[in-house]
Amino acid sequence: MIQMNKWAIRGSIHTGYQESMLGIMKWIRDNSPNKIIQLGTGSGVITFLMAQYLYDTNPNGKIKAYDWWDDSSDGFHIFSMDDFEFSYRNQPKELQNIIEYEKLDYRKWLDNPDTDWDMIYLDLNNDGEKIEKIYDVLKDKVLDEGKVIFFEGGTDGRFNKEAYKGRKKFSEMKDIPYKVYSVGIKSFGVISREFI
Ligand SMILES: C[S@@+](CC[C@H](N)C(=O)[O-])C[C@H]1O[C@@H](n2cnc3c(N)ncnc32)[C@H](O)[C@@H]1O
Repeated sequence: MIQMNKWAIRGSIHTGYQESMLGIMKWIRDNSPNKIIQLGTGSGVITFLMAQYLYDTNPNGKIKAYDWWDDSSDGFHIFSMDDFEFSYRNQPKELQNIIEYEKLDYRKWLDNPDTDWDMIYLDLNNDGEKIEKIYDVLKDKVLDEGKVIFFEGGTDGRFNKEAYKGRKKFSEMKDIPYKVYSVGIKSFGVISREFI
């Protein structure tokens, strides 16, 4: 059993990731990936958890974690890079060695995306438009190479919240092979050619 609070995590610790983490951790165990990309690192709590699982499965694996750590919140919670780095420095060395991170707007990342990944985890205050835009750039990796994209959300529960009002719903996305796990507001989606 992972002790999430064993090492210092500063900033906001939030719940609601149970469903996606169970799916992602199982996927890491089953697939022993070499490289995971995370877009939307925030506090890093999920990064550190994935790093622990990856280390246990493939100690040579890497996680590249991106966030813009920007203070224009758009109604969303703000995560600071300082808080992330404080927590990062307090991780065991072997986990620090697995994680690389970079402050970057994901839209810039899309102009020149990493190409050597096995799985991407998207947690960018997701909505249908963001997922479509990202999938459009990455779809060859999914369709031709069998790579997988996990994303927070998938059901439309979040669109009742103020910050998501007027945004494109997940159910309005077109031509993306994905499946949603869990129900209600807490859900996660998996994009894979298995679901064509
Ligand atoms: C729901 S939070 C992620 C929480 C994170 N998984 C954790 O464990 O704390 C969404 C994140 O997306 C980031 N984000 C939003 N828009 C972004 C953009 N355009 N480029 C990069 N990161 C962005 C925010 O800074 C925020 O940290």
